[in-house]
Amino acid sequence: MKNAINKLGNFINELGKIVFLNRENSLIFSQFEVNLTGLNENKMNKKLENFINEIPKAELHLHIEGTFEPELMFDIASRNHIELKYKSVGELKQAYNFNNLQEFLDLYYEGANVLIHEQDFYDLTFAYLEKIHKQNVVHTEIFFDPQTHTDRGRAFETVIKGIKRALEDGEKQFGITYEIIMCFLRHLNEDEAFKTLEQALPYKDWIIGVGLDSSEVGNPPSKFEKVFEKARNEGFLTVAHAGEEGSSDYIWEALNLLKVSRIDHGNRCLDDEKLVDKLVDLKIPLTMCPLSNLSLKVINDLKKHPAKELLDKNVIVTINSDDPAYFGGYLRKNYFALAEALDLSAADISVLASNSLEYSFLDSAKKLQHLDKISDLLKKFNN
Ligand code: ADE
Ligand code: ZN
Repeated sequence: MKNAINKLGNFINELGKIVFLNRENSLIFSQFEVNLTGLNENKMNKKLENFINEIPKAELHLHIEGTFEPELMFDIASRNHIELKYKSVGELKQAYNFNNLQEFLDLYYEGANVLIHEQDFYDLTFAYLEKIHKQNVVHTEIFFDPQTHTDRGRAFETVIKGIKRALEDGEKQFGITYEIIMCFLRHLNEDEAFKTLEQALPYKDWIIGVGLDSSEVGNPPSKFEKVFEKARNEGFLTVAHAGEEGSSDYIWEALNLLKVSRIDHGNRCLDDEKLVDKLVDLKIPLTMCPLSNLSLKVINDLKKHPAKELLDKNVIVTINSDDPAYFGGYLRKNYFALAEALDLSAADISVLASNSLEYSFLDSAKKLQHLDKISDLLKKFNN
């Protein structure tokens, strides 16, 4: 019997190595994600792993188009009679090897091309909710990029209706609350963003805020000052990607010109001490994305991730998955990987998870419920 168990253990370990090797080569089998950390590296203690798993978490930086798993992409492409450039799931996964943000974006926009019907957007969104439900993600604020779809002839309505219907079903089935944030593509011009804002107005009640994403360098927040002003006047909250590849000046612009409630990424704030002080004074959270930063070579080692240094400086840091299908892991895996790399304590983890809920756009009563649960779980952990 013991022999059989040992054999099984060896087999699982080998499987782990295969998955791990593949991960090194950017061939990612994210369905194995729980096992990855535990089996291969076995460094993080099981108790902390369970704690990360159990505590309620919110996700505040997630591009729904970035949750497009290759298997689903092939299924949807096939039912829409669209031929992908890659012959197989394996071939596509081999392309997940990025040197910078633009290389990733090229592939990400190409993948989104197969999304045609409302049901496609529904399936994409629902698949994401099924995954995060198992990870105790209790609230999610998802980004979508309307222009990626409207520029190829899809109606704004088709996209938003599919996403919204899935989110409603997810809330009914899994109890996951949600908000929707619509991002302007910053590589396009401000007139295009104005058109998108007009298209969004009939769905104003469904969309809590506007954001700014895509190729950062050369496309500063100042390029979108007027459209963000109009969006705020229409009642939208604002957020923006800044300081991922772009300089700390972009973060200043997002704060001063776009009046954002949160900075997406914000890694480069550490280049400017005054900016760090400003983020602390204004209580502006950073929605950081460790595995994304590693995949897109914003950092070359997770041990160099600035999250802990920023926490120690009293910056409000949150952990998020960005584009999990492309970067090797959903929210829990981002926590696992960061905790291991930076040797985070349960107290650190509870601060990160509490920040995610406290600085979400969720109502206060629900926030309090989740925050109470986190503090109870931390007490239990320490006993
Ligand atoms: N769109 C999707 N993911 C993005 C990222 N990490 N940065 C900028 N734009 C994006
Ligand atoms: Zn992002």
